[in-house]
Amino acid sequence: MSVADLVEVLAIENAAHLNPWTEKGFVDCLDAAAKGYVCQVVLNETQLIGYAMLSAAADEAHLLNIAIDPQFQGLGLGRRWLHWVITWGVRQNAQGMFLEVRSGNLVALSLYESVGFSRIGLRRDYYPSLLGREDAVVMGLDLAKLDIQEAAEI
Ligand SMILES: CC(C)(COP(=O)(O)OP(=O)(O)OC[C@H]1O[C@@H](n2cnc3c(N)ncnc32)[C@H](O)[C@@H]1OP(=O)(O)O)[C@@H](O)C(=O)NCCC(=O)NCCS
Repeated sequence: MSVADLVEVLAIENAAHLNPWTEKGFVDCLDAAAKGYVCQVVLNETQLIGYAMLSAAADEAHLLNIAIDPQFQGLGLGRRWLHWVITWGVRQNAQGMFLEVRSGNLVALSLYESVGFSRIGLRRDYYPSLLGREDAVVMGLDLAKLDIQEAAEI
C-alpha cells in the first residue's frame, strides 16, 4: 500500500466497516514501516479490492485491520487473504498472532475460528455501535507450531 492507494482503500474502509479508520490511521501505519508496520493491498486484474494492516514486534504479530471490498465478499477471497496474513506472521518468526473483532461480526469470527484462532479475551464496550457500545473479542493464533507450508494450507 502507498499513499496513492488511499482513495481506493478509504472507499473500501468506509463501505466495509461500521466504524472505519480515518485517513490518518492509514497514513500513520504507512509512516511506521520502520517500527514493524506492514500495509498490504489485494489487487485483482484491474483494481484494488482489499488490504491488511499488520504489525510485528517482540515475537507478536497483530492483525490491525483487514477488509475485502463488499462487492467481492463471500467469494473466498477473505479466506485466501487471511492465509497470506498468517504466512506473513510465520515469516516474521512471530510466536502468536492477535486481533480484535466486534462480538457481532459473525462472518469474521467464523472465518478466524475456522483457521484456528481462539477467543482469549473480551474488551467490554470497546467499539461504538449503532445501539451504543459493542464488545471486542480478543483472538489469538499460536504461530509457533506452524511452519510456512502449514500456514499456507490452513
Ligand atoms: C471478514 C472478511 C475479510 C471476509 O472476507 P470474505 O471474502 O467475505 O470471506 P470469504 O468469502 O473468504 O469467506 C470466509 C468465511 O467467512 C464466513 N462467511 C463469509 N460470508 C458469509 C456470510 N454472508 N454469512 C456468514 N458467514 C460468512 C464463512 O465462514 C466463510 O467460510 P467458508 O469459506 O467456509 O464459506 C470480509 O467479510 C470483510 O472485509 N468484512 C468487513 C471488514 C471486517 O469485518 N473485517 C474484519 C474485522 S476484524
